[in-house]
Amino acid sequence: MIALVEPSLERLPGYVAALRTGWSPSTGRDVSAEQLAEIERDVARFVADLARNGAGATVTLPDGSTVERLPGLVRWMWDGSFCGAINVRHVPGTLDLPPHVSGHVGYAVVPWKRRQGIATRALALMLPIARSLGLPRILVTCDADNEASRRTILANGGVPDEACPQREEIGKLKLRFWIATG
Ligand SMILES: CC(C)(COP(=O)(O)OP(=O)(O)OC[C@H]1O[C@@H](n2cnc3c(N)ncnc32)[C@H](O)[C@@H]1OP(=O)(O)O)[C@@H](O)C(=O)NCCC(=O)NCCS
Repeated sequence: MIALVEPSLERLPGYVAALRTGWSPSTGRDVSAEQLAEIERDVARFVADLARNGAGATVTLPDGSTVERLPGLVRWMWDGSFCGAINVRHVPGTLDLPPHVSGHVGYAVVPWKRRQGIATRALALMLPIARSLGLPRILVTCDADNEASRRTILANGGVPDEACPQREEIGKLKLRFWIATG
């Protein structure tokens, strides 16, 4: 059975083992090496920052400019061992997102646990969490050629964004879906 759990020092070894294989929780860019370095520097701080998705820290955009990370949280997918990570980020009080954030939720499953329904279940478990953050629906996007992610979204009731069902972001065609959280 899959649960979403808060990142913790106790469960960190499974996360570290995944990073060491080169697995990255972020699909936009490979952050495995930099996260391993952060863990090496200050493990307690890493876990505390990760749990709230690094909110408040700055992010460097492809054009070199920096912006503040949105409020959010990270949960680990757990079946007795580490399976993957899912995060939610939002702008309080609105469904709108700034242009550099493609959707409210992002997820990645470790390669050796894929195709077991874990992402589908994790996204379902994230919906009430997103609702508790004040989001009645969430925008979830995927690359047009990411069949596994598209199916994960559809299995959770994803409906194409009427106004903009797809758009190019940083040279990639993204499909845009809304999922009701309750
Ligand atoms: C996308 C990802 C999270 C899916 O995780 P998963 O746990 O394997 O997904 P599930 O087992 O819940 O499968 C979801 C659906 O995709 C299908 N699927 C899974 N892997 C697939 C693949 N490689 N090719 C085609 N379909 C696939 C499953 O059959 C299932 O379809 P169904 O609901 O019609 O039966 C995982 O492949 C991954 O981490 N990829 C790299 C990171 C990424 O792309 N994240 C999403 C960014 S938007």
